[in-house]
Amino acid sequence: MAKLIGGLATSHIPSIGNAIAKGLQQDPYWKPFFDGFPPIRAWLEEQKPDVAVVFYNDHGLNFFLDKMPTFAVGAAAEYHNADEGWGIPTLPPHRGSPELSWHIINSLIDQEFDVVTCQEMLVDHAFTVPLKLFWPQEACPVLTVPICINTVQFPLPSAKRVYALGKAVGAAIQSWKSEQKVVVLGTGGLSHQLDGERAGFINKDFDLKFMQSLQSNPEWATQYSIHELVEKTGTQGVELLMWLAMRGALSTGGSGVRTVHSNYHIPISNTATGVMALEQVD
Ligand code: DHB
Ligand code: FE
Repeated sequence: MAKLIGGLATSHIPSIGNAIAKGLQQDPYWKPFFDGFPPIRAWLEEQKPDVAVVFYNDHGLNFFLDKMPTFAVGAAAEYHNADEGWGIPTLPPHRGSPELSWHIINSLIDQEFDVVTCQEMLVDHAFTVPLKLFWPQEACPVLTVPICINTVQFPLPSAKRVYALGKAVGAAIQSWKSEQKVVVLGTGGLSHQLDGERAGFINKDFDLKFMQSLQSNPEWATQYSIHELVEKTGTQGVELLMWLAMRGALSTGGSGVRTVHSNYHIPISNTATGVMALEQVD
């Protein structure tokens, strides 16, 4: 069976793409953010996963407000990036793993998650920037399976439902008849609000409690409704649902995972940034 080695989570701000393109990692503004990544890259170098299953939210590149699936799974051989208007370089396509995609899709439908399947899917900064952060080399060494969760247009899926989706994806990966190693990613958050009266809103206390909960009490955030999460983390802070999906895919209980490394830094652009790597230990 395939081996699920652990989970990664990070914020996915477009301006990070520009900082990477311009080589600003050591710049005083960027250094405290980029310094969170080398220990995680060293772990990835050791573990050498073959495939990354990526929970992220599209921001209008592939799905627009007229057609908005709650959950969508990519099933393509490759995924193209395109100009979103942020002024960041468009990246070459990422290689897919249609075999794992279809296994996950079949397994999810079996587990009563009726997902949209996408044999063509553009991937935005929420997919491309995190992959570049974890694997900065020219050619990304992992195959990918994108899983999109709507956090753009209400109604959004509840934290409880997203955690359950993560669990179902974890079960699917564990039942994949393959020798490959799989890592699960969640991208987005942490607290931020880009528009409206509370633009610039950040909640460090909540973010740190949330990060802590992923190690020791992964269901903690499922006590909150979407409206409570918006109140606590901002309208775009609900992207932390992606971290919850990632954690759902791993073992439950505090002893099931080991924190490889985590970092929290405020702000990058309008966002409280976090990064975390969890190793599956049982
Ligand atoms: C920013 C944050 C996001 O999550 C995003 O998708 C776009 C922009 C920001 O802080 O600039
Ligand atoms: Fe975002």
